[in-house]
Amino acid sequence: MTGTDRTGGAPGARSAGGSGGSADSEGSVDAEALRVRALAALLAARERTGILTDSVDDGDLTAQHSPLMSPLVWDLAHIGNQEEQWLLRAVAGHGALRPEIDSLYDAFEHPRAVRPTLPLLAPAEARTYASDVRGRALDVLERAELHGSPLREAAFAFGMVAQHEQQHDETMLITHQLRKGPAALSAPEPPRGDASALPAEVLVPAGPFTMGTSVEPWALDNERPAHGRDVPAFHIDTVPVTNGAYQRFIEDGGYAEPRWWDPAGWAAVRENGLRAPLFWRRDGGVWLRRRFGVTEQVPADEPVLHVSWYEADAYARWAGRRLPGEAEWEKAARHDPVSGRSLRYPWGDEDPTPERANLGQRHLRPAPVGAYPAGASPLGVRQLIGDVWEWTASDFLPYPGFAPFPYREYSEVFFGPAHKVLRGGSFAVDAVACRGTFRNWDLPVRRQIFAGFRTARDAAPGEGEQS
Ligand code: AVJ
Ligand code: FE
Repeated sequence: MTGTDRTGGAPGARSAGGSGGSADSEGSVDAEALRVRALAALLAARERTGILTDSVDDGDLTAQHSPLMSPLVWDLAHIGNQEEQWLLRAVAGHGALRPEIDSLYDAFEHPRAVRPTLPLLAPAEARTYASDVRGRALDVLERAELHGSPLREAAFAFGMVAQHEQQHDETMLITHQLRKGPAALSAPEPPRGDASALPAEVLVPAGPFTMGTSVEPWALDNERPAHGRDVPAFHIDTVPVTNGAYQRFIEDGGYAEPRWWDPAGWAAVRENGLRAPLFWRRDGGVWLRRRFGVTEQVPADEPVLHVSWYEADAYARWAGRRLPGEAEWEKAARHDPVSGRSLRYPWGDEDPTPERANLGQRHLRPAPVGAYPAGASPLGVRQLIGDVWEWTASDFLPYPGFAPFPYREYSEVFFGPAHKVLRGGSFAVDAVACRGTFRNWDLPVRRQIFAGFRTARDAAPGEGEQS
């Protein structure tokens, strides 16, 4: 697992990154900066994990709230077990702490639906195990010489562990959303937004751009390597599709009209009697939704949430548009037409801040469209990062030059037409697991994830071409 076969060397052999964005400099690892950054990322993840697992009792930790999800206590011990395997064993060379539990927390061995039947660690044991692993991981971090091969691979391993925990923290928040009864979670309201003065769509001119990255220190294997893509001119929505717009699709009979739907999506509509996004219910003339156990009126100006790829695709067809391809989405999010460079984020190379994007469960809902003017792309596209994951038209496929790291099971086994790519991150995912190059994927029928979408269309002939 040296990763030296990948374009540009091993992922650990990057600059340590850090706020200020050193993504373009291929320097040696600044060990101290990395240590500080890794420590902060690990602590932030564990704080979030604590909030998500301490806010329910043991019964709710071990229960299965949906067959789509693991019991929360599985996520907790799995977080610890992956950290043990990736950091303590692979990087630091430790022996297994509890070799008998590895198979219980192997996501490939046991699908989510059967995890509650396994002899899982009880809540107290799972907490002890995860904090035991963390204590040792922090010792490794303190002592490791984070430069010089092979130890500089630790630079990547710490980032991967923090991202993995934060991804499970988003998964656990989905479990809270699926759980019955009000969640004991609270967060301030997101900032206001008003998109009424914004243009409905933005023209992204034709031309090449750099997709993916070879220099982002904590980029996962599927984001690598950087490569050129030529993208014809297209228009993309300035903001994500709102609940209000989606309601017009519903009220126009969208769920009763097969011509808007992919055949497999139409079959899912018929089989499951779908009429609206997950968690929505109509009461008289009003659409209500359940959000973390509380029923509220559907806010018209928030990005639509809890729709499948099929629903997004059907809406787009009804609207006379289409979903953006993944390369289009990334070009809209990263391409700077002035410098010709690809930025780390729509606003530039600096890390996300609360002014730029709704991330990290800081708010427990998307912000209304038009919020986060400081997060706009150079061409003026808004809310690409944070708020809701955005379905793209694209299948999850490797980039040219892809090399699996640290092993095939992280991304490679998911490549193919079964999974669609989502981009941009939601309010529920931390900044450490979200950037302009970050790729998420899921099955096109899934609706429990914090996903919405925006639409696109081809430019007219000659429009957006270089003259
Ligand atoms: C990238 C969100 C699809 O949850 O299955 C967690 C992330 N990988 N543990 C998932 C992941 C291994 C993954 N997704
Ligand atoms: Fe995992």
